[in-house]
Amino acid sequence: MKYSRIIGTGGYLPEKVLTNKDLESTIETSDEWITSRTGIRERRIAADDEFTVDLAEAAALNAIEAASVSRGEIDLIIVATTTADQVFPSTACLLQQRLGMEGDPAFDVQAVCAGFLFALGVADKFVRTGAANCALVIGAETFSRIIDWSDRRTCVLFGDGAGAVVLRADNSPGLLSTHLHSDGKYKDLLCVPVGVSRNFSKVQAGAAYTTMEGTEVFRWAVKAMSDIITETLDANDMQKDDLDWLIPHQANIRIINAVGARAKIPNEKVVVTVDRHGNTSAASVPLALDQAVRDGRVKSGQHVLLEGFGGGFTWGSALIKM
Ligand code: ACO
Repeated sequence: MKYSRIIGTGGYLPEKVLTNKDLESTIETSDEWITSRTGIRERRIAADDEFTVDLAEAAALNAIEAASVSRGEIDLIIVATTTADQVFPSTACLLQQRLGMEGDPAFDVQAVCAGFLFALGVADKFVRTGAANCALVIGAETFSRIIDWSDRRTCVLFGDGAGAVVLRADNSPGLLSTHLHSDGKYKDLLCVPVGVSRNFSKVQAGAAYTTMEGTEVFRWAVKAMSDIITETLDANDMQKDDLDWLIPHQANIRIINAVGARAKIPNEKVVVTVDRHGNTSAASVPLALDQAVRDGRVKSGQHVLLEGFGGGFTWGSALIKM
């Protein structure tokens, strides 16, 4: 059996920075409240004429360059997104056309904030079984488009961005294991309760907004993301001390700290970008990985655990030897 290995990472953030101070002038909030409850100081917001595929393309090109592969070598594209450009075709197909590629499979995966882990898990299986040799896996979101900017309980939390990796088949790992879970009974705790088939008039009226039971989501995110660390390490006969880095979904610094504390992983081993990015949903984990690779923290040969948690609920992890 072959393995898949990450050979390049990329990221993209829209130019516009929205600070907590900026939000103070539009809703009743304060920099102090947002920073102390979430750790978020600023987030990026896509321009009106910038779409999820634009963000995905920029991150993809960045990852392709880092991987030093030709576009012709890539034979699978998976985009994890909650905020697709169109109902169809998929954002992955739109991206495939942008990149001048054709013929090989390109499709979207929807698992909200855990979406990148789901996409990575699927791509890994394609590569391991020989169905693909070189995969482009992207998390890209314009989450700002499904936020009610007058709702202070949600709007301070989210931002836009994209992250990408190129995976290639290799005889040695690579991705050691991926673990994916869902539990639909929690569907109402974090959702956009309208869509194409249900309450489409609200979508047409521009009122397709994220709703959330913040305290419940917090509780479940901490439990699921700390339990899956144990599950992942056990599956690989590894101890927490064998990990060089934990890269958790970037939703809230208090969730990240609570996960680290429960899993007994010191803060110095945890990559944090939530202060500058906010919660970019499916983009948060690949963006944080890219950042840590580019600033030299994550190095070749190190063991990195990626994990995500999102609406559904969905949660997943990947243990990687870089
Ligand atoms: N500014 C000022 N006050 C606010 C704001 C705001 N932006 N938002 C809420 N408040 C108020 C509330 O109205 C409430 O006031 P009240 O007591 O008069 O009703 C008060 O602050 C306290 O609200 P709580 O909900 O108790 O605040 P809490 O400490 O629980 O923090 C938060 C709220 C930050 C949303 C927290 O519950 C959380 O982080 N939950 C996880 C949610 C999350 O990260 N979701 C992202 C998607 S899921 C994922 O990606 C994991």
